[in-house]
Amino acid sequence: MDVREGAVTIEVPEKRHGASEGSGDGVFYNPVQELNRDVTVGVLRTVADECGSYLDAMTASGIRAVRAARTGYEAAGCDLDPDAVDLARRNLDKNGLDGEIHRRDANAHMHEHRHDVVDLDPFGTPIPFADAAFRSARRYVCVTATDTAPLCGAHFESGVRSYGAVPRNTEFHPEMGLRVLLSALVRTAARYDVAATPVLSHVSSHYVRTYLRVEGGARAADRRLEELGYVDHCQRCLWRDHERTLVADPTATCPECGQSTWTAGPLWLGPAHDAAFVTEVADSIPDDAGTVGRARDLLERIAGELHRPTHYDQHRLYKRWGEPNAAMDEFLGSLRAAGHDASRTHYGGTTFKTDATVAEIHAAVH
Ligand SMILES: C[S@@+](CC[C@H](N)C(=O)[O-])C[C@H]1O[C@@H](n2cnc3c(N)ncnc32)[C@H](O)[C@@H]1O
Ligand SMILES: [Zn+2]
Repeated sequence: MDVREGAVTIEVPEKRHGASEGSGDGVFYNPVQELNRDVTVGVLRTVADECGSYLDAMTASGIRAVRAARTGYEAAGCDLDPDAVDLARRNLDKNGLDGEIHRRDANAHMHEHRHDVVDLDPFGTPIPFADAAFRSARRYVCVTATDTAPLCGAHFESGVRSYGAVPRNTEFHPEMGLRVLLSALVRTAARYDVAATPVLSHVSSHYVRTYLRVEGGARAADRRLEELGYVDHCQRCLWRDHERTLVADPTATCPECGQSTWTAGPLWLGPAHDAAFVTEVADSIPDDAGTVGRARDLLERIAGELHRPTHYDQHRLYKRWGEPNAAMDEFLGSLRAAGHDASRTHYGGTTFKTDATVAEIHAAVH
């Protein structure tokens, strides 16, 4: 079966009747990830003046490698599955594009070869490939993680094992997942004296996606580690606080309501995006990309987000107050009128970020 994505047409396995997205007996292809790939093309166009080569480390049908090659990159792909390798090569040919597809373990390839941009898109956690990715990448590492339950603390032990951090299942779980992932990636890069800085991150339909700029240097890597720390959170009244430190010093009891708190970390507490970069990516997504409208809306929302490590859900607050929700724009307007910073977030229609505490939010909107 042929599918068109952006400016390329690729052959993908027929989907079995009744099979869920991304499943099937043959080589993997998930149409739901088209938005992820359209944003990737936007990123590749944005960084084209500093990057020329791209590695699709787990290529499957070759779709990412083909789209990178179509964008002008010297593209390479790896897969262990011989059917995937054959299909990815056919898909490059089909589009009249050059590229090298290796039947090779991605880790082995990445330890031996350097690329300007390295893209990890594995099944589940990317952590088994993270060390090699930071060895291989000269400029950017792009990572998809689909194991959101471990990342956000819903599968606690698995999250601790994979990410070397304590995740907590709070009401800001997409953000928890993102910041657990970023923490692990930044620490992994630092082991090689590489400073990794997130420039764009989104959590969409059950996966986390992030793009990190990498630069060599022990001092720069040290500065990234200074952005790690802990979040204390009260499940009852939604109070939270964060501190940049590698030595946890939790506030064990909620100062507002006296309930025991939860502590998560070390989390990445720094910015998860660079607004100027995100805006450039939005402008760089080709007009013929299948999800261009949705992708630009997503990026516009992200570019406007405050750099706070947690977000609130307005529904949870009003539920606690025992009152009906206010309209979001009016609600955010009241916060700003009271002198607080406030922004929507891309995590949901009722989510927002602010520097105000729960008590200050309550005062501002009543
Ligand atoms: C989620 S799929 C990749 C999807 C693809 N990037 C896309 O956008 O459609 C993961 C792929 O990784 C391959 N894979 C698994 N372990 C690998 C390894 N150690 N090295 C290289 N490829 C691997 C699998 O065969 C599978 O094709
Ligand atoms: Zn409390």
